[in-house]
Amino acid sequence: MNQDIKEVLFSKEMIDQRVQEIGSKITKDYQMKDLVLVGILKGGVPFLADLIRAIDLPLEYDLMAVSSYGASTKSSGTVKIMKDLDMGIEGRDVIIVEDIIDTGLTLHYLLQNIRSRRPTSLKVATMLDKPSQRKMQIQPEYNGFEIPDVFVVGYGLDYAGKYRNLPFIGILKEEIYQKK
Ligand code: IMP
Ligand code: MG
Repeated sequence: MNQDIKEVLFSKEMIDQRVQEIGSKITKDYQMKDLVLVGILKGGVPFLADLIRAIDLPLEYDLMAVSSYGASTKSSGTVKIMKDLDMGIEGRDVIIVEDIIDTGLTLHYLLQNIRSRRPTSLKVATMLDKPSQRKMQIQPEYNGFEIPDVFVVGYGLDYAGKYRNLPFIGILKEEIYQKK
C-alpha cells in the first residue's frame, strides 16, 4: 500500500505527539464540564480513538455518520445524516471530532444541526485543516495540522474507502485516482 503514496506529510510519531498536545489542551479547557465527543464516521475514528485516551477527564463519546464524497476527490456539497447520535446532548459540552475540514460544508451543516439540540457549548476538533478550500467560514478550536490543497489519505482519511488504516498521513500518487 505504501507504494501508492507520493509523500508522507505527517508520520505516526508526529500525529501521536500532536494528539497528546490537543488532549492536554482539552483536559485543561474542560475541567468540571460535561464533555461529550461526537466522532464523525468513518474518517474521524482513528483521531477519536487516540484523542479520548489523551484526555484525562470523565467523558462520553458518540458517533454520527454523514454522507461523504464517494469515490470522488471533490466535495459534492450535499450533506445527509446516515447515522444519528444515540444520546441526548442538550445542556452538555460537545466537541465534534473530524478528520479534515476542506470546504467546510460538512461541518457547517453539522454545527447547525447539533446546535439546534441546545448543547451548553459546541467546539470542533479536526486532525487536518485545508483553509484554502473553504466555502463556509469555519475555524476549528482544536486543529492538528494545516495543509495546502492536496488530497491526502491515512489516519482515517480515505480514497474510495481505502487507505484509512495507514498510521501516517500522506499524499496519494495522482496515477491512483487517474486510473479509475
Ligand atoms: P468538506 O465538507 O469539504 O469540509 O469535506 C470534509 C470531508 O471531505 C472530510 O470529512 C473527508 O471525508 C473529505 N475530504 C476532504 N479532503 C480530503 C482529503 O484530502 N482526503 C480524504 N478525504 C478528504
Ligand atoms: Mg471521507
